[in-house]
Amino acid sequence: MKGVFVQTFGCQMNASDSDRMKALLAPLGYLAVERPEDAELVLINTCSIREKAEQKMNAVANDLKRLKERRPELVLGVTGCVAQQEKEAIRRELPFVDIVLGPDNIDELPWALEQVLRPNSEAYVKTEFDREARVWSTRTELLNPGVSAFVSVMKGCDHFCSYCIVPHVRGREKSRPIQDVINDVKLLVAQGVKEVTFLGQNINTFGKRAGESLHELFYRAHDIEGLERIRFTTSHPGDLKDELIRCFQELPKLCSYFHLPVQSGSDRILKTMRRFYSIDQYRERVSALRQARRDIAFSTDFIVGFPGETEEDFLQTLALAKEIRYDNVYAFLYSPRPGTSAAEREDLTPASVKLERLSRLQKLSHQESCALHAAEVGQIREILIEGPSKKDPSRLTGRTSQNVPCHVDPEDSRGLGRGDLVEVLILDSALTHLSGRLATQASKAEVQSETR
Ligand code: SAH
Ligand code: SF4
Ligand code: F3S
Repeated sequence: MKGVFVQTFGCQMNASDSDRMKALLAPLGYLAVERPEDAELVLINTCSIREKAEQKMNAVANDLKRLKERRPELVLGVTGCVAQQEKEAIRRELPFVDIVLGPDNIDELPWALEQVLRPNSEAYVKTEFDREARVWSTRTELLNPGVSAFVSVMKGCDHFCSYCIVPHVRGREKSRPIQDVINDVKLLVAQGVKEVTFLGQNINTFGKRAGESLHELFYRAHDIEGLERIRFTTSHPGDLKDELIRCFQELPKLCSYFHLPVQSGSDRILKTMRRFYSIDQYRERVSALRQARRDIAFSTDFIVGFPGETEEDFLQTLALAKEIRYDNVYAFLYSPRPGTSAAEREDLTPASVKLERLSRLQKLSHQESCALHAAEVGQIREILIEGPSKKDPSRLTGRTSQNVPCHVDPEDSRGLGRGDLVEVLILDSALTHLSGRLATQASKAEVQSETR
């Protein structure tokens, strides 16, 4: 057996690509290991969404350089979005890298490896996008199936928001056929998976070219016996159709959680971001979703310090965050990306002002999250047990339908196991999690009489 170490940066799509690479390597005798020192092959699966992500990759690559100096037979690969962005140029900066593969080329990994292992071989660099006409079809393979699995259903994005590198490094949008995804989910369920998260950069337009749709996928997945929960990410608010909202009314397995990135609370900034919705339209979508599912929780992404953002624009962002009451806010400092149109814009706001805005938004959203979680105390929530808590292995942990981690009292954890769906009476809350005891008949009756 040989060892492969994969370091993953970026989004869940990259995480799912890393799993795929490990699965492709397993038949060649490569076993995933925890440390680069134990590996014959090291892969860095990179992200390019903000400059910081790229810097992290360079730091890791330079550490590996030292490892390679000591063990010249070590094979090093750079995959993912920075590979796509930099192509051959990676080899100028990091000449000790043997394999460079873009996100659409990872299926070639076994072949690339064979090439670079030949005596006197050259580096293998491939960063070609799939040809437009090809339907993307593949199988999700899990090496160690848990209760929850990510299933990539799309690649790429057609939107070109003015700040975003994704369409440049992941290419145009392509969807897998529904039947292919459904076959995948059935196989996962047969391996013990209870929850799937469907992944796409702009999942609302899933199936667009083939005349298929996301809601159709949800109805089909909902019928699969043994599958308990359905999640998905990410949704562009401008593509959020009524049919999808209706799913929250009709499909109980669809979780009460919606990540709906708004990016800014200012219509003026949204326009320059090329987001094609207004704050009023966003509000309307949120309230339609709340009507469809009373206990739905929202999370969002904001970009702070976009070129031209004034204090007035930023105050509108704060006001929106307060109004919607997000369970979780991911706030990012704007980072200019190569080849995007926003990177050309004049940006006069000093970095110190941007940082201060970021911390005001983070402070507000932490307060909101704490308040929302505190309001959970006394409620009964269903959680899907994922395993022992990392901090305290005597307690089991799962997530609520609203996607909040929840720990179960050690007394009650005995007798429970991974994959169990249980009702928990919430007794305590914090910024990032909840904890409680198994709900008894008595506690259920009590909560019911209080809400009456
Ligand atoms: N496809 C998803 C977003 C993927 S990127 C969507 O459309 O919602 C995840 C988040 O990173 C984005 O929502 C945005 O908030 C942030 N982001 C993207 N480009 C960025 C940049 N240049 N600078 C700062 N944040 C950025
Ligand atoms: Fe980027 Fe916009 Fe596409 Fe999301 S919708 S991946 S932010 S271009
Ligand atoms: Fe990063 Fe590429 Fe995902 S840029 S966020 S890894 S699509």
